[in-house]
Amino acid sequence: MNEIIKAMKERRSCRSFNSLPVPDAIIDEIIEAGLYAANGRGTQCAVVVVVKDEETKAKIRDLNRRIGGWDEGFDPFYGAACYLWVLAPKDNPTYIYDGSLVMGNLMLAAHALGVSSIWIHRAKEESECEEGRAILDEFGVPEGYVGIGHCAIGYSDAEPAAPAQRKEGRVFKK
Ligand SMILES: Cc1cc2nc3c(=O)[nH]c(=O)nc-3n(C[C@H](O)[C@H](O)[C@H](O)COP(=O)(O)O)c2cc1C
Repeated sequence: MNEIIKAMKERRSCRSFNSLPVPDAIIDEIIEAGLYAANGRGTQCAVVVVVKDEETKAKIRDLNRRIGGWDEGFDPFYGAACYLWVLAPKDNPTYIYDGSLVMGNLMLAAHALGVSSIWIHRAKEESECEEGRAILDEFGVPEGYVGIGHCAIGYSDAEPAAPAQRKEGRVFKK
C-alpha cells in the first residue's frame, strides 16, 4: 500500500501518553509538515503555538478541563508531552478550514514519525477567554486569532486501538 495512504489509515488518537519528551527536531518536523497544508487563497493564515513548558501546559490543561466541565484531577490532554495549539485569524473567510487542515497534517506527520497524537477540543473557547488570551499574549499571538484545536503529541506505551469500522452509506455516486 502507498505509504501516505497507509499512514492515513493507521493513525489513531492516543489517550495514554508516557512521560518521554518529544525531541525538538521532531516537533519542528511535525510543525513544518503542518504548515504545508493547503489553505484558502494561499494566505497561510493558521499559526501554531508550541507549548512544552510544564507551567504553561498546566494552565492550558486546567482551563481546558474547566471549559469541558470535568472534575479537578482529570487531564484532558492525557499526559501529552507537548501541545501544538493551532489558531487562525477570524477575519480570514477560510480560517476554520485552514486551521483544521493544519491539524490534520500535524497528526499525520506525527504518526509518520512514530509520535502519538490526538486532537483536543475547546481551543476556541480557550482563546476567547481572558485566561487563554493572556497565555497567547505571552507567546506574542496577535488579537483576533481563534483556537481551532490542540494537537497533543507524545509517546505512548499503549497499543493503538483498532480503527472503528467505517460507516456505510457515506459515499454518493451516480
Ligand atoms: C474536531 C475534533 C475534536 C476532538 N476533540 C477531542 C477531545 O477533546 N478529546 C478527545 O479525547 N478526543 C478528541 N478528538 C478525537 C476523536 O475522538 C477521534 O478522532 C475519533 O474518536 C476517531 O478516532 P481516531 O482518531 O483514532 O480515528 C477530537 C477529534 C476531532 C476531529
